[in-house]
Amino acid sequence: MTPVDILMPRPMPPLVLEKLEAEFTVHKLFEAENPDGMLAEIGPKIRGVAAMGGKMDKAFLDKFPNVEIISSFGVGYDHVNTGDCLAANVMVTHTPDVLSDEVADTALGLLLMTVRELGQAETWLREGKWVSEGAYPLTRATLQGRTLGIFGLGRIGKAIAKRAEAFGLTIHYHGRSRQDGVAYPFHATLKDMAAACDTLMVVAPGGAATKHAVNAEVLDALGPEGILINIGRGTVVDEQALIAALEKGTIHGAGLDVFEDEPNVPEKLMQLPRVTLLPHVGSASQATRNAMGQLVVDNLKSWFDTGNAVTPVPEMG
Ligand code: NAP
Ligand code: 8YV
Repeated sequence: MTPVDILMPRPMPPLVLEKLEAEFTVHKLFEAENPDGMLAEIGPKIRGVAAMGGKMDKAFLDKFPNVEIISSFGVGYDHVNTGDCLAANVMVTHTPDVLSDEVADTALGLLLMTVRELGQAETWLREGKWVSEGAYPLTRATLQGRTLGIFGLGRIGKAIAKRAEAFGLTIHYHGRSRQDGVAYPFHATLKDMAAACDTLMVVAPGGAATKHAVNAEVLDALGPEGILINIGRGTVVDEQALIAALEKGTIHGAGLDVFEDEPNVPEKLMQLPRVTLLPHVGSASQATRNAMGQLVVDNLKSWFDTGNAVTPVPEMG
């Protein structure tokens, strides 16, 4: 049997490469000296793509007339134009569920770090200020008594809510529609939820529908004790509006794991005092990344063995 040709445009975790190479012929575009030349040569042979970010739309698909499936690493797939994939009859898969608990743990860590300024307090100790200047200043904010508005009460949002309940927080949520069987108060608009809360947890997907949903108006509604946490996608928050809100004291602080133009983080954000910044590490433990990688492999194997994907994105029907 002729082996199936798979394209890997960007480096992926070693487990993915190892397991794919055991089953398929893997073409590593990132190692090519002449990527365009390599694509011209192998384009028609490619039947599957193992993706780690990178824009995938009609222009991308046109290079691979025989591609059947894009198996994407990560639950968020805003880098893939699913409309173009449907039109070209290309299956798209992602890696849901296996990362939900890890990302929720990170979200709670980021929330606590931000509210209680734990990163700044550690820097104080490391810089010797505990000795030279005394105790780290008391934080104006506390987690106790906070009302948490979750923007995107999906798999990860629910795992965050479960943890937040254990911390004694009151929970509200916003999404495109009210969910059956969910007792938390639902808000039809994000601004309405922000006005009812003092802590906004963004865990919604990226893409055009959510771009800059967290804007100046929403931050204003969150108010001067407001804390914004973004563990979803950088594009959901208008970063310039956020910087302005932090500078003016419109909100109190922010904790961000994701940014509009990763890995570039605006200098102004780095300099603001009550901001915690993480380099997109929501799911970044070896165990969780391996589980995600395994799903990338399983989707490709299942597709070429049986014609069915394991975890197709919802748009695939
Ligand atoms: P999910 O189960 O699909 O949940 C997404 C939630 O967002 C749903 O409850 C959905 O509710 C809501 N939503 C979707 N589109 C919306 C819109 N246009 N307006 C308002 N609400 C909308 O996905 P998940 O597994 O929880 O993952 C959520 C996101 O987290 C991913 O897409 C990814 O961007 C991000 N993520 C980040 C990291 C990290 O490392 N920081 C790791 C994993 C995931 P409705 O359908 O009711 O609108
Ligand atoms: C990954 C993520 O780090 O799953 C997602 O949507 O944002 C993260 O878990 C990312 O997809 C890796 O590219």
